[in-house]
Amino acid sequence: MRQHMIAAIDGPAGSGKSSVARLSASLLGYTHLNSGALYRCVGLLALRRRAALDDEASLTALAESSDMRFGHGGAVLLNGEDVSGELYTSAVTEAAAEAAVHPSVRRAMTAQQRKIAAEGNVVVEGRDVTTVVFPYAQAKFYLDASIEERARRRHKELAEAGEAVSLAAIEREIRKRDRQDRTRKHSPLQIAPDAMVIDTTPLTIEQAAEAVVARVKELAACG
Ligand code: DC
Repeated sequence: MRQHMIAAIDGPAGSGKSSVARLSASLLGYTHLNSGALYRCVGLLALRRRAALDDEASLTALAESSDMRFGHGGAVLLNGEDVSGELYTSAVTEAAAEAAVHPSVRRAMTAQQRKIAAEGNVVVEGRDVTTVVFPYAQAKFYLDASIEERARRRHKELAEAGEAVSLAAIEREIRKRDRQDRTRKHSPLQIAPDAMVIDTTPLTIEQAAEAVVARVKELAACG
């Protein structure tokens, strides 16, 4: 049986990873596996069940006993319920970040991602998908952009959501998150040696997705 294609994309917040992964998946007809959304599901479950975020065993049990999948149009289905609208609140964002530091939660999330990828071709994005979750992915990418551009993108997003935060404050926040992501003990954000690095600073989402799609098609033709 032909092995399914795995196109894996890592990169820091604001690199354009999610938008590029979504568009590339849609152009290729693959499932868009947003691993951050899975960590957010664990955060949501912890809040709903009132599990303490430092209780690694309870969080892992919740993660292991839940069914997580992606439905049509990118909907996130948690035990069959469409929770897409609840995953991006500040409370869930914080809970997800805290849950993601636990090694056994990360192991459960790795298993969830491998299960989803076993069912069909995927474009998967995250912080450790090219290095830890799918070191054997056929196509690997690392998306990056300058701090200034990433801050500008985040500023626009927040302004559209009605939140007025200064560019300088956002830049500070991004530098702090970068440090946390790159220096954390388990699964730090790293560039896989065989990843294609794409600097999205001067690119539109469409241009970056075009580069991803072209490379995936090239590799799929070889395989
Ligand atoms: O990309 P995001 O903001 O939706 O991710 C939500 C949280 O999950 C964030 O704190 C980083 C974490 N995460 C992770 O640790 N590893 C991944 N592969 C994806 C996300």
